[in-house]
Amino acid sequence: MLPKINSLAGYLYEYQKSIANPEDFWDTVAQSFYWRKKWNKVLEWDFNDYYARWFVGGKLNITENIFEKNLFLLANKPAIIWEPNDPTQPHITLTYGELFEKVCQFANVLLANGIKKGDVVAIYLPMVSEAAIAMLACARVGAVHSVVFAGFSASSLSDRINDAQAKILLTADGNYRGAKAIELKKIADEALESCPSIQKSIVLQHTKSAVMMQEGRDIWWHDAISAVDTKNIAEEMDAEDPLFTLYTSGSTGKPKGVVHTTGGYMVYTAYTFKNVFQYEQDDIFWCTADVGWVTGHSYIVYAPLLCGATIVMFEGIPTYPDVDRFWAIIEKHKVTTLYTAPTAIRSLMAYGTEPVERHNLSSLRILGSVGEPINEEAWQWYYTHIGKGNCPIVDTWWQTETGGIMISPIAGITPTKPAYATLPLPGVQLMIVDSEGKELTGNNVEGNLCIKFPWPSMIRTTYGDHERCKQAYFSTYKGLYFTGDGVKRDADGYYRILGRVDDVINISGHRLGTAEVENAINSHPLVLESAVVGFPHDIKGQAIYAYVILDNAAKNNDPEKIKLSINVAVSKVIGAIAKLDKIQIVSGLPKTRSGKIMRRILRKVAEGDTSNMGDISTLLDPNVVAEIVEGAKLL
Ligand code: PRX
Repeated sequence: MLPKINSLAGYLYEYQKSIANPEDFWDTVAQSFYWRKKWNKVLEWDFNDYYARWFVGGKLNITENIFEKNLFLLANKPAIIWEPNDPTQPHITLTYGELFEKVCQFANVLLANGIKKGDVVAIYLPMVSEAAIAMLACARVGAVHSVVFAGFSASSLSDRINDAQAKILLTADGNYRGAKAIELKKIADEALESCPSIQKSIVLQHTKSAVMMQEGRDIWWHDAISAVDTKNIAEEMDAEDPLFTLYTSGSTGKPKGVVHTTGGYMVYTAYTFKNVFQYEQDDIFWCTADVGWVTGHSYIVYAPLLCGATIVMFEGIPTYPDVDRFWAIIEKHKVTTLYTAPTAIRSLMAYGTEPVERHNLSSLRILGSVGEPINEEAWQWYYTHIGKGNCPIVDTWWQTETGGIMISPIAGITPTKPAYATLPLPGVQLMIVDSEGKELTGNNVEGNLCIKFPWPSMIRTTYGDHERCKQAYFSTYKGLYFTGDGVKRDADGYYRILGRVDDVINISGHRLGTAEVENAINSHPLVLESAVVGFPHDIKGQAIYAYVILDNAAKNNDPEKIKLSINVAVSKVIGAIAKLDKIQIVSGLPKTRSGKIMRRILRKVAEGDTSNMGDISTLLDPNVVAEIVEGAKLL
């Protein structure tokens, strides 16, 4: 049984133990899993020339830890309760026994289509149970899944497929998002025009919309599964064999494939799930994230299922068919633990408490928040109106790269403080540094958040390019993993995440790199150059402000029409999540003599704070600043 902390003293004791002797600590935790062969060594690592290996020599399959290990107890227990977009349609419950059969069956489909251990399978599916089945089937046969969020565009999908040289694409005819039906297969078809590595595409029939099936490449999911049986023996994996890659944005132009491996990811995500959410076996756990993001990987699919939990998986959006949908789902399925994002809370807060009061939320025990800083007002609303003052809030800080939750209260145990992620979990050794990398010790300090010791579910590499991994995470501060986040440690030693300090914008909890958005803007034929920054947004947390220099050829066009078409271009390149909230057309950008854009100035203008621009004397053309300030007033 996974160890479970049950008091504050217990947390402090476990934390100290995990710091004093991390290898012993994780050795004990890892023993609660089923390993075909035990590890020889808990950890090998080096942060200066980065590598980290956990449970070295251990052999396992993560799906055996979900299914075979517990099946005699869990066969009839609901594993997934799938709630459709349209509430008039029935929900579907899959027990652990049924899920196991479906995973084995789809594993056989993958094998029948030539997938072998180590091959990459791209998954571009809506929030349907088949997305989880597909991920687990990959894990079963040792294939590396690369899930691409179904809101991404064709070119984002093809970039990700090509970077990892995926052999198979799993997709669906279409998907629903509230009142909208999206033709997913059409987007996938467009992507596949430039994906030579894809040999087969397996297509789930979901919306039953008409689609084009390409002979020799496309296979219906239902045909594929009917051709195989439901028994499958899991592939034996090394603890350090990759489990999945998931693309995320950083400060450079191209998203990178964060690679997680099998053993450490399993141990850490399950441990954090059980402890942070104080999991009990009759809990109904609902994480509202999409499986396309890391939260969906770790806390919809892997960790809860490893712990034998019942999860809710929701296809739709919080405001369809009405703004009470979340609360209706909680009442309908008697959800005990709700794990959602501050953006969702803020957007639902805007409708007041009446939609909440239509429902009985008394099943709720614990509330979670993830993906972005939660402001105090949203925290209070969540606590008072959703939790009725009875449910602790766990504000969980972590990243795609960390694999699992790193800083968070232990529900009901760690005293909380609004807007604070509070304290590091066992095994997490934080360090705050100034811009020179000097450690800021003691309390009441603010700086950049680093981690000085490995944890089992940390990023191992970036797909196909280990140098990039070293460069992005281990080169800013020597010997440290740099998170890219600013942080404050207050007088009580509590951590408050202040947001990104690099060129990453966090929109509704989704990461976008400024360079990535700029590349998309620059793809517009009338754009010469652009620079984007984030600015505060009441609901989304941050929104995108773009400064754009147009080509001369644009001078006879209506600027408003050009702005609209720039947004169309960006959503074509990246996807609808990259919408530009403000576009300012400028004649120049504030650049230093070495050609670097001084984003500090652009951020201040975007925030509407132009009182003190600081030193602009190093700019190539300081006059450009006055023009930008004036132009911003007209937006
Ligand atoms: O800036 C932090 C913010 O989200 C970033 C990680 O984004 P991503 O890899 O997409 O993973 C999101 C889900 C884990 C972080 O660098 N972030 C995440 N959680 C919090 C947060 N900021 C403040 N508070 C949080 N609880």
